[in-house]
Amino acid sequence: MAKLLIEGGRRLNGTIRIGGAKNSVLKLMAAAILGHGAFHITDVPAIDDVRTMVGVLRSLGVQAFLQGNELHLSVNGVHGRPPERLVQSMRASVQVMGPLLARLGSAEIALPGGCAIGTRPLDIHLDGLRRLGARIEEVEGRIVAKAEVLKGADIVLRYPSVGATENILMAATLAQGTTVIRNAAREPEILDIQEFLNRMGAKVQGAGTSVITVHGVPDLGCADYRVIPDRIEAGTYVIAAAATGGQVQLLNVIPHHLEPLLRILTAMGVPIEVEEGIVRVYPAEELSPAQIQTAPYPGFPTDLQPQFTTLSLKARGQSIVRESVYDNRFGYIRELGKMGADITVSQNRAVVNGGRPLWGTSLVAGDLRGGAALIIAGLMAEGYSEIDGLYHVDRGYEDIAGRLQALGARALRLETG
Ligand code: EPZ
Repeated sequence: MAKLLIEGGRRLNGTIRIGGAKNSVLKLMAAAILGHGAFHITDVPAIDDVRTMVGVLRSLGVQAFLQGNELHLSVNGVHGRPPERLVQSMRASVQVMGPLLARLGSAEIALPGGCAIGTRPLDIHLDGLRRLGARIEEVEGRIVAKAEVLKGADIVLRYPSVGATENILMAATLAQGTTVIRNAAREPEILDIQEFLNRMGAKVQGAGTSVITVHGVPDLGCADYRVIPDRIEAGTYVIAAAATGGQVQLLNVIPHHLEPLLRILTAMGVPIEVEEGIVRVYPAEELSPAQIQTAPYPGFPTDLQPQFTTLSLKARGQSIVRESVYDNRFGYIRELGKMGADITVSQNRAVVNGGRPLWGTSLVAGDLRGGAALIIAGLMAEGYSEIDGLYHVDRGYEDIAGRLQALGARALRLETG
């Protein structure tokens, strides 16, 4: 286990290069199951969720090696099913269901474990795969899917689920005929999958809009690819810079993907400069409070909600944060209360009374982005904070201690055995 010891009250200053997107690369790895041959994927974040997905692919007969930030895959035969322990440890494992169904005509996967941020059912995934002709049942905590052949269909999602859009899209690439996915998720990571699949020989169009069309093909090859920058990692460091009154330059970002965040920060009084591939954050004299509501892309991303709520503690006055994507994503606020934060939560709304000092203390991360929020709070607070449960943060942030140190933070990773 590991924890992070932070001495707060120091401004972050310097330049950081953002890595590849966790929420893209995990799906590119699943999509490779559909193909044949050698894949070379670069700008892969060296994070635990990628290592877990390497384990999932190996369990399916794919040769997978992560070397630094480069991933080498060799797909010849595919067989079997992912081990339950891996699926339980990472919900994104369900993204192999569509590819396995399309390639093998069957897929069997344990129901992913409970999650700290909400119930997270799979009904939209399963309904969509059934529309393509799959027979799916839940047997003793496992999903068993079968389909001799998948046939293209016109599918309307009841909610623009990112994972369901991706699972259905991947399965449709090898279906007979044409599939149209309506009310599809529009996240940038879906554009990444479309580009990757098309390089493998698929015929996908419309990603980034609400209507995605897939013309099925008999088989797929392989591709080399560079993962798009991680807009959530970038947003986390933008918020950390603003929260500490620092001056930070971020490289390898796509500013357009950060637009909802940059717009609200500018309105709060954070000076921000944007260039091609670069975002610069400058110190703000005073922050004004704000009101946000999370929503599917291009709305304010739920994955930046905990970090933003923490920043709003610095703004003098009352801020309101509404979480509309998950039903339980305010768990970290109890920990912020230990630091003196005045935040009241009722249902999906948090009311933040900001402008008061935060005091460092011992904190426990309960999930990935909540953990990132506690680290930002530790950077903002007077005195020392110790953040336990760092394994949550290691799932999605590469070397967060080293990157913060490089920006001048006093942050020390303690391995506690
Ligand atoms: C992806 O999860 C991301 N994870 C999440 O990031 C992100 O929060 C989410 O998209 C929304 O942007 C990865 O890409 C690996 P959804 P996903 O299906 O695909 C409900 C992080 O911190 N829903 O769009 O699981 C669901 O319960 C993680 O990096 C159903 O009801 O998100 C949730 O309330 C956290 N039925 C909402 O939709 C379904 O069949 C959004 O889920 C599927 C989803």
